[in-house]
Amino acid sequence: MDLAVNLAPRHKLELRLANPIMTASGTFSNGIEIARHFDVDQLGAIVSKGTTLRPRRGNATPRTVETPAGMINAIGFQNIGVGALIQSIAPTWERWQVPCIVNIMGETVAEYGLLASRLDGIPGVAGLEVNISCPNVEVGGLEFGQDPRAAAEVVREVARSTSLPFLVKLTPSVSDIRPIAEAVAAAGAHALTVSNTIPALAIDVKRRRPYLPGGFGGLSGPAVKPIAMRNVFFASAATDIPVVASGGAMNGLDVVEFIMAGASAVQIGTASFLDPEAPWRCLRELRAWCENEGVQSLDEIRGVARRRD
Ligand SMILES: Cc1cc2nc3c(=O)[nH]c(=O)nc-3n(C[C@H](O)[C@H](O)[C@H](O)COP(=O)(O)O)c2cc1C
Repeated sequence: MDLAVNLAPRHKLELRLANPIMTASGTFSNGIEIARHFDVDQLGAIVSKGTTLRPRRGNATPRTVETPAGMINAIGFQNIGVGALIQSIAPTWERWQVPCIVNIMGETVAEYGLLASRLDGIPGVAGLEVNISCPNVEVGGLEFGQDPRAAAEVVREVARSTSLPFLVKLTPSVSDIRPIAEAVAAAGAHALTVSNTIPALAIDVKRRRPYLPGGFGGLSGPAVKPIAMRNVFFASAATDIPVVASGGAMNGLDVVEFIMAGASAVQIGTASFLDPEAPWRCLRELRAWCENEGVQSLDEIRGVARRRD
């Protein structure tokens, strides 16, 4: 059975994964702590915590609240900043076999470019994941990922600034993901991650206040899976670059479902909060399903649910 996938077939460096199971940004830190307990080299790829130019302390606590079939988080992008990541994390990644991808987030187009160029050529960094689900401060807070032109501008800037392959992570906060997926692919993205958390609110009735100090946060977990599924279906039909699914995958069958919708790889996020071994379990369950079904390669099932026959 061959579970290998290439997330950047058109890039000279390519982005080859031994299997389609990746970790989701922000749910695995930078992998260092978990690597003490589990073998990270068995996974397809690791995605870092969202990384900004300067370190960020993040929001006041509590930063997460459990909701039916999911959770809402408002971490506020706490991270050590790109300089410290290069100094103290990348050298460890360099010793691993598994490709490590840095998730980057800027507040302006120029910041995305600076982040991409700082990470260019750093040993241990196999690629970037560009999170465009964040406010564009230059135009008053509309997310880059909600406007095809702004999204394409970020992608062109990143492409100019790095020779690394990169994925672009789309927001589900749009009525139709296809125009954004098309604009991002046309601007030079090597793959898409579909999709990020969904803005949400939970209120503590006893306190008569939102649970989270800042009120709102991003919903993730099984509650968002059918939404992410539809977005993967549409984005993979609208573009010819690989699509990585993100949203509510909890087990191997969820992974199969995303691949049938058109995904090339699947990220495991919130599932890791319930079960730190979830990415490895999902991989075992995916293998067992393929074995039972006589599936030799994921090409046999990728996008089958999109067929009309
Ligand atoms: C606690 C937490 C922190 C997250 N931090 C980031 C982040 O820094 N950058 C990013 O692009 N996505 C971030 N995400 C979104 C996840 O990577 C993922 O896209 C989303 O949670 C949906 O997948 P899931 O339902 O499998 O968790 C975060 C999610 C959670 C739950």
